[in-house]
Amino acid sequence: MNIEHALTVPGWMTEAELLWLATTAEHKSLIVEVGSWMGRSTSALSANTLGKVIACDTWEGSEEHADMLRDKPKGWLKEQFLAHAGRYENMAFFQSRSLDLAASMAMLDLRPEMIFLDASHDYESVKADIIAWRPLLRPGGILCGHDFDPPNWMGIKQAVDELIPDRVVVPGTTIWRTV
Ligand SMILES: C[S@@+](CC[C@H](N)C(=O)[O-])C[C@H]1O[C@@H](n2cnc3c(N)ncnc32)[C@H](O)[C@@H]1O
Repeated sequence: MNIEHALTVPGWMTEAELLWLATTAEHKSLIVEVGSWMGRSTSALSANTLGKVIACDTWEGSEEHADMLRDKPKGWLKEQFLAHAGRYENMAFFQSRSLDLAASMAMLDLRPEMIFLDASHDYESVKADIIAWRPLLRPGGILCGHDFDPPNWMGIKQAVDELIPDRVVVPGTTIWRTV
């Protein structure tokens, strides 16, 4: 596993979380990441798989990022993403809303083996993401997401517990995953 570069990219994922992404990505042929920000998790996935990674983000930030992005020029966040994760030739990025890309992939019958959700963290958005993306998973694939971290981000816990009651949380991380 090589997360050296990922660790240099700004973001919130811990070393243990990056390592889990890297290890889990290794033998997957198609991975989708929803919510890429500056490319920290994208880098951990892309550097450690022989497969392809699709990174999806609006690069507009979520509501909790409004203060961080207020003074930044238009396009700044996407430029940051490209500066960090643009080096990975096995990564394709889509500036798209999560649900729009899920609909396009469903139409094309593109079936990822791993889908990592880390976009908007409110209950309604997480629920909508799970409902849109879960049916696209290849049989035996993994649906997972970040910030299952009560009492923080209670909307994530609520949506995941409701829709995926047998989910597990990866020990030492805030990553939830299907079994
Ligand atoms: C918490 S950040 C992702 C962090 C990233 N995984 C990392 O490792 O640093 C959430 C990202 O989701 C994006 N986002 C929020 N809602 C979205 C939506 N509906 N569709 C696509 N991207 C979205 C935001 O623009 C933001 O960049």
